[in-house]
Amino acid sequence: MAHKTSSHTGDLPPTEPSFDAAGKVVAVLIGVVSVAAGIVVGLNNPFLSRAASSEGAAIDALFSLMLGIATTIFIIVQGFLLYAIVRFGGATGEEGDGPPIRGNARLEVLWTAIPAIIVVFIAIFSYRVLADIERPKGDELVVEVTARQYAWEFYYPEHDLKSPDLHIPLDRQVLLKLRSADVIHAFWVPEFRIKKDAMPDRVTEMRITGTQVGVYPIVCTELCGAGHAIMRAQLIVQPAAEYEAWVASTLAAKGRMATAGDPLAYGRQLFVIYGCNACHVLTDAGAAGVLGPSLNGIGSRAETTVAGQSAEVYIRKAIVQPNEYLVPNYQPIMPQDYGQRMSEAELNALITYLLSQK
Ligand code: CUA
Repeated sequence: MAHKTSSHTGDLPPTEPSFDAAGKVVAVLIGVVSVAAGIVVGLNNPFLSRAASSEGAAIDALFSLMLGIATTIFIIVQGFLLYAIVRFGGATGEEGDGPPIRGNARLEVLWTAIPAIIVVFIAIFSYRVLADIERPKGDELVVEVTARQYAWEFYYPEHDLKSPDLHIPLDRQVLLKLRSADVIHAFWVPEFRIKKDAMPDRVTEMRITGTQVGVYPIVCTELCGAGHAIMRAQLIVQPAAEYEAWVASTLAAKGRMATAGDPLAYGRQLFVIYGCNACHVLTDAGAAGVLGPSLNGIGSRAETTVAGQSAEVYIRKAIVQPNEYLVPNYQPIMPQDYGQRMSEAELNALITYLLSQK
């Protein structure tokens, strides 16, 4: 390596860089390996779970293509970098300048044109995927989604039905109309690959089509306050007949409770529908939230919490004006609008239910 350490090339005229025979072999090798790796990684995208919606499948195809292209480019760049280090690296102690190299016009045209073509291609592909997943395909089921600190509520206008979880029939397009009752939230179902903000001042829309029967987590993906991390619900994709049965049984249960009056069961249902379960512990309702005080035994405690005030009045105030009697060590984060959101009958049923929790 004596010729390298002694080389002093500052006075030589600039030269065009070029590949010798060994360099050409390495270049072809890097090219073949990078394209093969790009195809393998693109076709077997190792980063994604299986998509459970038709929109997700279209998005995954785009993402896998981009991942394949990125893998190819990554290996080309790293391959030539490695080759350059091994082949042209200076010996230990060598601190002189390398030979001056002028640009290579052919190479520069190539590395400008190829990325430009790739970017335009991906832009067209992305546009087509976006247009496809946003296109109404007829006979869509409309569901109004309301986000609030810290729960989701799903309303089916077609059936005048409210649910804390989102049930949808298999293979049918669903139009979600999202809005927020307070701050900005965002609706995300990882297996569906879709994400959309729920805003307080407008309705945002999104279409989803479940293609795999199953239960999937709905996640709030916009930091919305202390309970952001627990703001979750479930998306249940069911065969059409099962979905219809769910609608029928939920409507029947609602009718039965509202009219025949099983106030405790009704109250327990309201406790979940209005999202109380997201922040409070109440074993009877299967609730395990930790942001608010536990409500186990609230019926007994409420009798003595405020001297001279009945348990019923105390619980009513604690729901309608929650900041009035803030339990020590808890933040004033409970929504202030339950008085407006619940009907008087619903409020009474919920109070009756909580009073029964001795
Ligand atoms: Cu709602 Cu984060």
